Amino acid sequence: MKFFIDTADVTEIREAQTLGLLDGVTTNPSLIAKTGRDFKEVIKEICQIVDGPISAEVLSTDYEGMIKEAAELKEIHENIVVKIPLIMPGLQATQWCTEQGIKTNVTLCFSALQALLAAKAGATYISPFVGRLDDIAHDGMDLIAQILEIYAQYDFKTEVLVASVRHPMHVLESARMGADVVTVPYKVLSQLAKHPLTDIGLAKFLADSKSIPK
Ligand code: G3P
Repeated sequence: MKFFIDTADVTEIREAQTLGLLDGVTTNPSLIAKTGRDFKEVIKEICQIVDGPISAEVLSTDYEGMIKEAAELKEIHENIVVKIPLIMPGLQATQWCTEQGIKTNVTLCFSALQALLAAKAGATYISPFVGRLDDIAHDGMDLIAQILEIYAQYDFKTEVLVASVRHPMHVLESARMGADVVTVPYKVLSQLAKHPLTDIGLAKFLADSKSIPK
């Protein structure tokens, strides 16, 4: 399973990159807005830090606007993946990108039928938002299971990118189900290596090592 980081904060991206676990980065307009920086400037800097797929989202909601933005984003760096919302013009724009050889991440997916349409449009990635479904008392991980089940029955190339991850259990379940990618906020990424028994065990080993004759 590939690990992407879900942030536009370059300090977090640099820190995660030093762990050697990062396969890519996902951003969205809310995450970019939080940085208070210029959109293209941030995306360019992220491309310098991580050598992997970097998702940057279009803001247009009409087909013509989306494909214009997609073409512009693609010019920023060869690793750019154009993030497109799962609305009808978005599916049409995804198909255009597929024809042009531009990679896409179809976002804001909340149903398996939406995911099926994205795959038919040739999306490189589909981003189901598990945390936001959990927030409204739906089972986010059940959506991942449904999408994986459907994709497994056809020859779709679309990778399932689990998004809106809120805690380590989302990551564990994604791995158990065989999701292709999970995109995690820095906070969740740093929680994954932690275990209290590791800390207790290490403290004991270090304490005991002091009685080893020199
Ligand atoms: O990048 C999309 C996604 O991961 C959003 O997460 O926490 O805002 O639902 P969240």
